[in-house]
Amino acid sequence: MRRFVVVLLVLLIGAQVTANDMDAKIDNILKQLTLDEKIAMTHAQSKFSSPGVPRLGIPEIWMSDGPHGVRAEIAWDSWSHAGWTSDSITAFPALTALAATFNPELASQYGTALGEEARYRKKDILLGPGVNIYRTPLNGRNFEYMGEDPFLAATMVVPYIKGIQQNGVSACLKHYALNNQEQWRGHINVEVSDRALHEIYLPAYKAAVTEAGVWSVMGAYNQFRGQHTTHHKSLINDILKGEWGFDGVLVSDWGSAHDTRESALYGLDIEMGTGTDGLTTSNENAYDYYFLAKPFREMIQKGELDEALLDDKVRRILRLMFRTNMSSDRPLGRMNNPAHLEVARKIAGEGIVLLKNRKSFFPVNPDKKMTIAVIGENAVKSLTAGGGSSELKARDEVSPLRGIQERFASAEIIHSLGYVSGPPQYGSVIPSTQDADSLINAAVKVAMKADLVLYFGGLNKNWNQDCEGDDRNSMALPFGQDQLINKLARANKNLGVILVSGNAVEMPWLPEVKGVIQAWYLGSEAGHAIAGVISGDVNPSGKLPFSFPVKLSDNAAHSFGELSYPGDGKTQYYKEDILVGYRWHDTQKIKPLFAFGYGMSYTSFKLSSIKTDKKSYGTGELINISCKVTNTGKAAGSEVIQIYVGKLNSKVKRAAKELKAFQKVHLSKGEKASTKLAIDVNDLAFYDETTSNWNLEKGDYLIYVGTASNKISKKVKIRIN
Ligand code: BGC
Repeated sequence: MRRFVVVLLVLLIGAQVTANDMDAKIDNILKQLTLDEKIAMTHAQSKFSSPGVPRLGIPEIWMSDGPHGVRAEIAWDSWSHAGWTSDSITAFPALTALAATFNPELASQYGTALGEEARYRKKDILLGPGVNIYRTPLNGRNFEYMGEDPFLAATMVVPYIKGIQQNGVSACLKHYALNNQEQWRGHINVEVSDRALHEIYLPAYKAAVTEAGVWSVMGAYNQFRGQHTTHHKSLINDILKGEWGFDGVLVSDWGSAHDTRESALYGLDIEMGTGTDGLTTSNENAYDYYFLAKPFREMIQKGELDEALLDDKVRRILRLMFRTNMSSDRPLGRMNNPAHLEVARKIAGEGIVLLKNRKSFFPVNPDKKMTIAVIGENAVKSLTAGGGSSELKARDEVSPLRGIQERFASAEIIHSLGYVSGPPQYGSVIPSTQDADSLINAAVKVAMKADLVLYFGGLNKNWNQDCEGDDRNSMALPFGQDQLINKLARANKNLGVILVSGNAVEMPWLPEVKGVIQAWYLGSEAGHAIAGVISGDVNPSGKLPFSFPVKLSDNAAHSFGELSYPGDGKTQYYKEDILVGYRWHDTQKIKPLFAFGYGMSYTSFKLSSIKTDKKSYGTGELINISCKVTNTGKAAGSEVIQIYVGKLNSKVKRAAKELKAFQKVHLSKGEKASTKLAIDVNDLAFYDETTSNWNLEKGDYLIYVGTASNKISKKVKIRIN
């Protein structure tokens, strides 16, 4: 009989499971599992796996970072690389670059390709994407996220997740929630209003759950209102699993669980990384002592916790398995194929943002015989390695220098470093031992002889730069770059700056340089994508997914002093409330250096015939907005139509305007297109703290139609009845 049950179970697992009969099958399996087997499934057995039940053929779950490619294999019980030779992959552009494309179709291609690589590498959960909101330019992990606007992040994250999951691999949405800085991330307690929580910090998570149907979510390290977010009554039980109906698995961040009772009661399903800080230290064989291991079993046995709590966790874990490693029709996946490189290159090309272009400095004619000085460490440094858990072992990484050399084959290319950072080291900064003055002098000499200077600088993935675990120390460029750029500008007027970073930087030298390009961490195809834009093969169409303030104190979080950022070591107060990013700049009339949504092209566009279909609308109706776009310049290109909405005479505090719709349009030279965008009237509601619900205010609203948050072509007044 027992054998029969086991065989039946295996057959059940193998069979294709539809949503309807899945729960019954899970109940059946649950009945077969012992207390120890169930307990085992709720916590790690190694750095990146949780155990299965070998006796019943229930597989282990294997996880990997995320979110820009599949991370190299990590050893069973330490943070060293396992030393495999078959784990180098396609590195995709960082999520900031993806967000800058403003192109959800590319997010879908990204997710699909990355999911295929994860599947080929036999991963069941890919630890990404991250949608923590860009609150301060100092956050060391901004490069892994999708910018400062909840609507943009929500729109881009949904197709990314669907793309991953169609491969039978679960995305793991992180870091839920309010992990918006790395400094003190393990304990800082965030105090934020309900309104900002629901309007700014949660919408992208909500879309990932309710629209993309994400199968797993990662809790965060920090606290919210005095409770750790990985086992949090209101965030997880009430909102995520309650209100939004999340039926998947809540995975802890590595070492973010702190208590057995809270983990059991408040929604943690799989505990990972306890005894580590997520990145460095490791207590060998600590697994039996995890909060959800022996201590959990003992509390159940003593009757202090109900076994039903454990059953709910196991039910969720099995559900994730039926969707991934126990699904019989899982695709096979593929890796390092030309199509994936093509996806990576396309996203990189569309994500690059042209910020300044005096006298059409860019594009640079690739067929001209000339001398080009390529200056800067970021022209040659590997930027897929480092940065913390998102580090990648790319099979190939085309550096900007290599990209320029290949595309500008008729030119003489001379490279000079100009500055160097020290070697990457997690947890500390090792200054370079090279003499800074000699590096500057050598670069200036090369610049003087050249017809044109292309400077590749910005940040890198070293500690205190764009790196997990801590924040940047200032918004200025590091390693003496401001001084270097000023000297280069004096040596050669033909200077273009290409900034590689995942964060805004100060640009005191801006008036002295002819062109500025914001290139992000672009992955395997970085050099090809950058050379594509510089040569004009690709017409830039990226838009900034976050504001670049002139100086740090112009940023909302920073303008309220240290209690707002980074806090007093224990608690921080999000005093800017809902006015994050451009919402702050617009409302307070503080001009940014470069605004949210801004980005230039080698051609020009004109928006015309902008109108709404009606003048007044009721609840649940769609506001249809039509607009003609004409490519009025000399090259084919793409423009992003952006629609913002602001409430006039609101009875509550409001941002001047908020992004509510966008659409990217590609047009050949001289071409015209009619675009139609729609906004659901209900999406104009604010979160009312007095009723803990959304509240749609009646009255007049302004619809702003333009091509950046600070480039509005027309405002249309409408009324909500
Ligand atoms: C990070 C997570 C990551 C995990 C596993 C943690 O330090 O915060 O984003 O997925 O480590 O590497």
